[in-house]
Amino acid sequence: MSLLTIPRGAIAPSPYPVERWLKRAFYLACAALAGWLLWRASHQHQPFEADWVNKELGRWSLRFLFACLLLSPLSRLLRQPAWRRWRRPLGLMAFAFAAIHTVHFLLYGRVWPHRMAIVVQRPYLAIGLVALILFVPLAATSNDAVVRWMTPRRWRLLHLAVYPAAALSVAHEVMAYAPLIGEAGLYCALVVLVLAAKAWRETRAVRSAAARPARKVRGSVAVG
Ligand code: HEM
Repeated sequence: MSLLTIPRGAIAPSPYPVERWLKRAFYLACAALAGWLLWRASHQHQPFEADWVNKELGRWSLRFLFACLLLSPLSRLLRQPAWRRWRRPLGLMAFAFAAIHTVHFLLYGRVWPHRMAIVVQRPYLAIGLVALILFVPLAATSNDAVVRWMTPRRWRLLHLAVYPAAALSVAHEVMAYAPLIGEAGLYCALVVLVLAAKAWRETRAVRSAAARPARKVRGSVAVG
């Protein structure tokens, strides 16, 4: 496969009605989850419940993000190309939860009225903000019309930004003192694994692309 092509079926809309309904159900379930969390934040039964909700929104964002990042290697490993069609819903939900998490903090976080200043003062918040900003163009270009308009090659180049964004998101989580024994530790290991696997695949693709014309030349010399 060439370095800058999108595998067939990776972004194409599902040809199966069942899959389309499953995706709708997934979006509805995510909306229900976000609504329930926000309802809990506004009807607090325990002290600091809003803080817990805020962290939970961030954690769900990472859960969707890593599910999305792991889909490609898993689909290749288990020869299930159709799984890749779930990357878009998962990626969009990762972005949506990160955005709600940020807006919720900015509106209702405990450090009001210095909340905006604190984003610059505390590096982990600035890192989270950079990750969120990196996700914006990815979410904005996650629809078929834009992919066609951008051409798959440019789309794929742009979407490589998901890797630094994932690394920054994990750094943000760890710097927010999430205990490393648990989800945060798992994401640290996964982000290293996913980045290494991606770097290996890209290097291999570049090498084989570079080797192709060289082989042709050698062949023509031999024939000549
Ligand atoms: C892609 C973007 C982001 C992701 C994936 C994300 C994810 C997370 C996660 C998983 C946690 C929980 C850490 C724990 O378990 O203790 C967290 C905490 C937090 N995040 Fe984010 N976050 C993002 C962006 C932001 C931004 C832009 C802000 C604010 C400007 C922010 C503010 C916070 C705050 C205030 C906490 C709680 C820290 C504490 O209570 O000690 N996050 N974030």
